[in-house]
Amino acid sequence: MKFFKAMTVIGVLLLASVSCRPVQEEPSQPTPYELAKPSYFPSRTNIPEDNPMTEEGVELGRKLFYDARLSGRDGTDGIRSCSSCHHQEHSFEYGSATNTHHAMLPLINLAWNRTGLGWNGGVTTLEDMVLAAVTSPVEINADTTQVVKYLQRATDYPELFEKAFGSRHITFVNVEKAIAQFVRSMVSADSKFDRYLLGEEDLTEDEMAGYELFCTEDGADCFHCHGGGGLALMTTNLFYNNGLDDEFNDPEDRSAVTGSHWDRGAYKVPTLRNIAVSAPYMHDGRFATLDEVIDFYSEGVKDSENINPLMHHVMDGGVQLTPREKAQLKAFLKTLTDDSFLNNPDYSRP
Ligand code: HEC
Ligand code: HEC
Repeated sequence: MKFFKAMTVIGVLLLASVSCRPVQEEPSQPTPYELAKPSYFPSRTNIPEDNPMTEEGVELGRKLFYDARLSGRDGTDGIRSCSSCHHQEHSFEYGSATNTHHAMLPLINLAWNRTGLGWNGGVTTLEDMVLAAVTSPVEINADTTQVVKYLQRATDYPELFEKAFGSRHITFVNVEKAIAQFVRSMVSADSKFDRYLLGEEDLTEDEMAGYELFCTEDGADCFHCHGGGGLALMTTNLFYNNGLDDEFNDPEDRSAVTGSHWDRGAYKVPTLRNIAVSAPYMHDGRFATLDEVIDFYSEGVKDSENINPLMHHVMDGGVQLTPREKAQLKAFLKTLTDDSFLNNPDYSRP
């Protein structure tokens, strides 16, 4: 008996000593980030295998997105961050003039863009877009080596890079990855139209009539190009010449990427989500209001050998809407405004 008791005590002690052995300090792993994916969104995203989204990566990307130190300088004139141009309240577009000859594109649901970024689609990934934006003379105009040196010397960044990527040693590749993660986290899926699709809210009679015009060929005929992802994305993310002009002299249109004469005057079709708050419109910002845009599609379309065949009504100069139909179409476009996206604290300056 005594012997067994003793053995049990020893056993318990042994067990205790095993379980009490100090745990080896593992470098803490970042927490996977759950991208908010509404059920009616396309299932395929552009998240690369070597840049999975993490809570720490998105948070670091957000800080960098808003930090003028991303220009590798501090406190001097002309310093810029992504947020100098991409404003949340305008769907990460920007109203007034920039140094670029091209108008802005909104940063919305870009995790689902798989066809190229920028008006001509010349940039393939969001990671590449960060590099392009930081180094472009008309955007941040910085030198990546300088940026990395600057961030490495900062008191706050090395630790944040360690949390997100496991190393205090900052590389520009990790800067690209973090900001790309943050941009992918910007999901707009809570407009009135989304709630209508989910059966949670009704559209008014005018909004409903506008929706029908949008989706019918003998109505306003918008859906072929702007209805991508089963209306979830409000863009096919493809490139079209929509008949704005009949002469083409922009060297940076889609033909700059494909080399094809047929892509003269073609540009990426922007999402119509939050369109009411992201004026001015078109690649050169030529229209200041949605009324001007609708008038253009109704009676201002210009024919050329390059116009996309989906502009079915070009022979009539446009889709020929009555004033009432124009108002209904505009009412529908306004249901695409997503206030919770525009005010989402997760996307705002940290
Ligand atoms: C000086 C203003 C400016 C700054 C600063 C700027 N951008 Fe942009 N951004 C633009 C303009 C203009 C476009 C449209 C460019 C084009 O296609 O010609 C654009 C386009 C983009 C796009 C493509 C969107 C799409 O739908 O294809 C992304 C992504 C983007 N910017 C991210 C960033 C990030 C990230 C930063 C910071 C690293 C940044 N931008 C800094 C002006 C700016
Ligand atoms: C053939 C394809 C096509 C059709 C059909 C079409 N669009 Fe477009 N839309 C585009 C393209 C391409 C652009 C960008 C053109 C540019 O900037 O040069 C654009 C731009 C826009 C813009 C400006 C977006 C921005 O952020 O600047 C609005 C608004 C718009 N379209 C609304 C509509 C409406 C409303 C209809 C139906 C009446 C419609 N579109 C039909 C291809 C199309």
